[in-house]
Amino acid sequence: MLTGFVTFEGIDGSGKTTVSRLVAESLRAKGHRVHLTIEPTKSWLGDAVRRAYDDDVGAIAESFLFLADRAAHLTDIRAHLQNRELVLCDRYADSTYAYQGARLEGLVKDPIHFLQRASESWALRPDVTILLRIPAELARKRIEGRPRLIRFEDLALLKKVAANYDRLARSRRFVVLDGARSAEAVTLDAISAIERRLKPPRKR
Ligand code: TMP
Repeated sequence: MLTGFVTFEGIDGSGKTTVSRLVAESLRAKGHRVHLTIEPTKSWLGDAVRRAYDDDVGAIAESFLFLADRAAHLTDIRAHLQNRELVLCDRYADSTYAYQGARLEGLVKDPIHFLQRASESWALRPDVTILLRIPAELARKRIEGRPRLIRFEDLALLKKVAANYDRLARSRRFVVLDGARSAEAVTLDAISAIERRLKPPRKR
């Protein structure tokens, strides 16, 4: 039985919502107990976050709203992990490091480090982070048809966010997949990466 905390990351249009849903469905069909969750959450704090990027409260207030939503979400994530489930999360801390890391440029020194320092002592570290990598131009094309575009989907910002993700992905916790392929192909790779990384170590 797989258990652990897996996050899905990528710029808007990278396909992580579709892929995380397909991964959850396949792993459930294989008999695993899977809890699929998402950030921003569906709680009032998630609503506050969404309101913050519609109203533009500024990058600093927005950053702390994302962190507040995460802090509250962790109670639920921890409960499912304690229940020995596999927790899949569509966006988590690296979204804040990548997006608000770009938004805070010029406002604070070394934005990614600033955000990591503000949250690493209380935020749970994922066991595996799947980064769906896709060129910003293709991502922008994919999201063009969406009914409502938000400010984070601007091409110049997406490019900065993508560069931040590449920097974060140097950590060994990351598995980087080519998100430009079909969702089914990416899903198969994501499942084998999860199974490989979460396998219990062999007894010696
Ligand atoms: P979604 O499109 O995956 O629902 O996410 C909504 C937007 O919120 C997306 O443009 C990415 C952004 N976001 C951040 O900027 N920081 C965060 O910490 C999270 C979780 C999302």
